[in-house]
Amino acid sequence: MTNQPLWHGRFANKTNEQAFALNASISFDIRMADQDVRGSIAWAEAIYKAGILDSAEHAQIQTGLLQIKEEFLSQTFTVKSDDEDIHSAVERRLGEIIGALSGKLHTGRSRNDQVATDFRLWILDHIPALDSALADLQSALVERAEKDYDTIMPGYTHLQRAQPITLGQWFLSHYPPLKRDQARLQELSRRVGILPLGSGALAGCPYPIDRIALSESLGFDVPSFNSLDAVSNRDFAAEFLFVAALIGTHLSKLAEQVVLFTSAEFGFFELDDAYSTGSSLMPQKKNADPFELTRGKAGTLLGYLMGLMATLKGLPSTYDKDLQEDKIPIFAAFDTLVAMLPVIAGALRTLTVKPARMEASIDASMMATDLADYLVERGVPFREAHAISGEVVRAGITKEKSLDALTLAEYKEINAVFDEKVYEVYDARASIAKRAAIGGTAPDAVKAQIERAKEELKN
Ligand code: ARG
Repeated sequence: MTNQPLWHGRFANKTNEQAFALNASISFDIRMADQDVRGSIAWAEAIYKAGILDSAEHAQIQTGLLQIKEEFLSQTFTVKSDDEDIHSAVERRLGEIIGALSGKLHTGRSRNDQVATDFRLWILDHIPALDSALADLQSALVERAEKDYDTIMPGYTHLQRAQPITLGQWFLSHYPPLKRDQARLQELSRRVGILPLGSGALAGCPYPIDRIALSESLGFDVPSFNSLDAVSNRDFAAEFLFVAALIGTHLSKLAEQVVLFTSAEFGFFELDDAYSTGSSLMPQKKNADPFELTRGKAGTLLGYLMGLMATLKGLPSTYDKDLQEDKIPIFAAFDTLVAMLPVIAGALRTLTVKPARMEASIDASMMATDLADYLVERGVPFREAHAISGEVVRAGITKEKSLDALTLAEYKEINAVFDEKVYEVYDARASIAKRAAIGGTAPDAVKAQIERAKEELKN
């Protein structure tokens, strides 16, 4: 016997094969098998309590569903070619196990409230894996910062040499964005934790279902507010994709710098062999592929968000089949992030830092701001001090001399305030040590950030 679709009654003819294939979502919504069975177990309980099933029927349905759960766990569940989606597949299988009684399970329920419930459950189930991958990457950044809390390097704005910083400060700059992403996921969980089940196809459930008890039994916080909204609301999916895209953007910023820093022109970092790849043609090549892919995948993640937003944009209220397009990007975004995050963490933990090379990239002009501060200490208003320092920089350029190589006479020619102490300004470590206010690059301020981050990571 070939199985008929759940909705066969009204139809005289069979669905065209290609149309069926286009319609079917089993190839991807099979990932929600566990959530679908759990939702059905809870629903069976709810309609039993509402008097739709007697206790023997409820027990039989429950036993059948538990067997199906077991089949999915042991990977012995066989999907049939005419299973349209995960909901149809589970119901078909329940029929094979317990017979016609299986037909009572769908009383008062629609696949519209069912799929929205499964999908929310799936996201709630998977947020913890993302959360811990983010936490591990944060730990890797803090570990690196601890090793190099006082290693000096050039800091950049506009990708131009700006001021000396510590490498610890640089590593830690990538910590708070990920912390914020984690907080976003936690916040989002609260909006995902709202139960659509019991909304029916759109208009609500005609049976005396206790939706509060149902919500609790599935681990949701509350039942949804309005049935029309409940079956079409995919805000949580869009939010999930936004957070995923933002994580991608944060990782991309880190990745872009690692790619630059491992190039010969910078030569600040060398990746471990385990986290880099070679060229099929050029034997000398060592490429930062994991970081390039991280940068690339940030674009793909953004695309998932754009795709879903575009799907949602034209929809009227309640369920439309367009909504079936919501799952693929969520699954893909999740898979991408859980594949990427541990690789980045591993690559950061194992990379070799080249402190001499970083220090050699600091030139005296990067202390031009300190030179202005030196003048400020001698009573010159900052704006004027900035202009005088600028003149010193210009003199250096014209005379092709580093700022610390200009003679005191040359300094005094620019302004009489200069004295022999001016050369102390060009000590990069002293420049860094001065920036000790909370959040600054001074080794002590970096240590304080490390302590704070470690405290946060404990929770
Ligand atoms: N496979 C569908 C989805 O993922 C389930 C809901 C189907 N509802 C319907 N009215 N056809 O969205």
